[in-house]
Amino acid sequence: MASLVEKVAIVTGASRGIGRAIAEKLAQEGATVVINYSHSADKAQEVVSAITAQGGKAIATQADISRVTDISRLFQETVDKFGKLDILVNNAGISLFKPLAETTEQEFDQQFALNAKGTFFALQEAALRFSDGGRIVNISTGGTVNGGANFSAYVGSKAAIEGFSKCLAKELGQRGITVNTVLPGVTETDMNLETLPEEARAAMIAQTPLGRLGKPEDIADVVAFLVSDQARWITGRNIPVDGGLA
Ligand SMILES: NC(=O)c1ccc[n+]([C@@H]2O[C@H](COP(=O)([O-])OP(=O)(O)OC[C@H]3O[C@@H](n4cnc5c(N)ncnc54)[C@H](OP(=O)(O)O)[C@@H]3O)[C@@H](O)[C@H]2O)c1
Repeated sequence: MASLVEKVAIVTGASRGIGRAIAEKLAQEGATVVINYSHSADKAQEVVSAITAQGGKAIATQADISRVTDISRLFQETVDKFGKLDILVNNAGISLFKPLAETTEQEFDQQFALNAKGTFFALQEAALRFSDGGRIVNISTGGTVNGGANFSAYVGSKAAIEGFSKCLAKELGQRGITVNTVLPGVTETDMNLETLPEEARAAMIAQTPLGRLGKPEDIADVVAFLVSDQARWITGRNIPVDGGLA
């Protein structure tokens, strides 16, 4: 029997890339999944169709996670429709590949508005609405471990998530709710095709002991474990999923 039957999950930024793979994996395990997206209504609907074609349950809900009012609406609509919420995967994120010296105030604010503030207020909604025994997974980046040239604003905004996660794990532990953060290495998605130059991709592969870039499914499998009952004794942790990239 699938391990997430009767669980209700929100995956933010699930219309593409890592979020899509996570949503599909949780649905395969039996969860009812809310596919959040910002702009890509067609792609989000494709994810819903792919899940329902496999016998799973999913709906798509638009919400700009950099806006607190949208976050509240996403959670309210989910609870109104399904009566409860058990799992949150804070995956929606944007990246910036630019030297710190050239980063504008507007670019800095965009990174922090979605990656840090959006995650913070989604965590707040989860803390207020979650059933006991729930599961929260935040998606950071392996860049927070050793840094990365030209990623200061992005990595800084993701480091904030790791701080929220460790503190909230301590606040919610008494309710049996776990809060963990997954740190993907470079993963084959639109994000990298858009922001990472070819020579930087090649350098990443050369530095990765397992000899390739990550695939969205590599990340989704670990998230599915962390939201399962098998991971009940893991909380407040950062978990790199990166093929050994240091
Ligand atoms: N790819 C990597 O190498 C890598 C490595 C480390 C960490 N990560 C992290 O993993 C997560 C997913 O990355 P990805 O590579 O899968 O990205 P992606 O392919 O660019 O997809 C981004 C997803 O986030 C959604 N999104 C963007 N802005 C949003 C907003 N304001 N509100 C709600 N949703 C929004 C997009 O929705 P729309 O389609 O509607 O725009 C899309 O579904 C991000 O947090 C990223 O920082 C990625």
